[in-house]
Amino acid sequence: MDTQNTTPRWRLRVAEIDSEFDELRLPSGADDGVSQDKEWCDLVVDGQTRRIRFHDYHDVFKVPGLYEHLFYHTLECCSPTRVTRLLADVLLDHRDCPDDLHVLDVGAGNGMVGDELDARGVQKIVGIDIIPEAREATLRDRPGLYHDYLVTDLTNLPERDEETLRKHQFNCLTTVAALGFGDIPPRAFVKALDLIETPGWIAFNIKEDFIHERDASGFCRLIRRLARDEVIQPQAYRRYPHRLSVAGEPLHYVGMVARKLRDVPDDMLECDF
Ligand SMILES: C[S@@+](CC[C@H](N)C(=O)[O-])C[C@H]1O[C@@H](n2cnc3c(N)ncnc32)[C@H](O)[C@@H]1O
Repeated sequence: MDTQNTTPRWRLRVAEIDSEFDELRLPSGADDGVSQDKEWCDLVVDGQTRRIRFHDYHDVFKVPGLYEHLFYHTLECCSPTRVTRLLADVLLDHRDCPDDLHVLDVGAGNGMVGDELDARGVQKIVGIDIIPEAREATLRDRPGLYHDYLVTDLTNLPERDEETLRKHQFNCLTTVAALGFGDIPPRAFVKALDLIETPGWIAFNIKEDFIHERDASGFCRLIRRLARDEVIQPQAYRRYPHRLSVAGEPLHYVGMVARKLRDVPDDMLECDF
């Protein structure tokens, strides 16, 4: 398996997607200093201009090709490639094979991570997202890539969804560009980890600010506790530029791969971090 030189699958995929917009404009000058979760762009469709906030994913996913052009082409996002490459590297060290993974991809969006896992030989990928537009975009632009794709809320997982998910016997969790910022909260991340069999793998990324001790999102406390209580054993940690901001500055994230060593204790599932 190639762990270094895999061409990002989105580059091939985007050529197949019939983009339904004429122009994408990023703010310039005074407007380009906004925080990451408030960034926006103007989209021109049939001569009409519409403003879209980057984090309004339901709007972004409705427009074929917009997510790829905005985040990957224009802002040079590389996280699905970086995180899956880190996972592949660790698997090699353990003589584990991607073909044997049953992956739960949480915050799957329109399937960019699924594409990268597929390119590395993973046979079974199931997605979860909280908005139906993500699932619809995946079925529209990447049909057949995910074995199953549930729209559900991990902070309040319906029993039926939990049964469906456990039947897949996942041995790997991925979550990319989806933790923090009002997206996936710590409690949902712990629940996702609970859905993975022991032993298993987890591969995720997170903005570096969210793992500083002073951070209030709870992810720093959660990750430390998981490691201290030996629920997970960190295997790889990599700081890298996740993408550019609209002002052209690199936004640094941390990619992590860990081994799940034991089941998540019940009290941790109830905890607010
Ligand atoms: C930036 S996108 C990342 C999509 C994909 N993982 C990628 O790397 O391209 C974040 C995704 O997380 C999803 N999301 C946000 N909050 C969530 C939650 N609580 N549970 C599941 N998905 C969530 C959003 O709907 C969105 O599709």
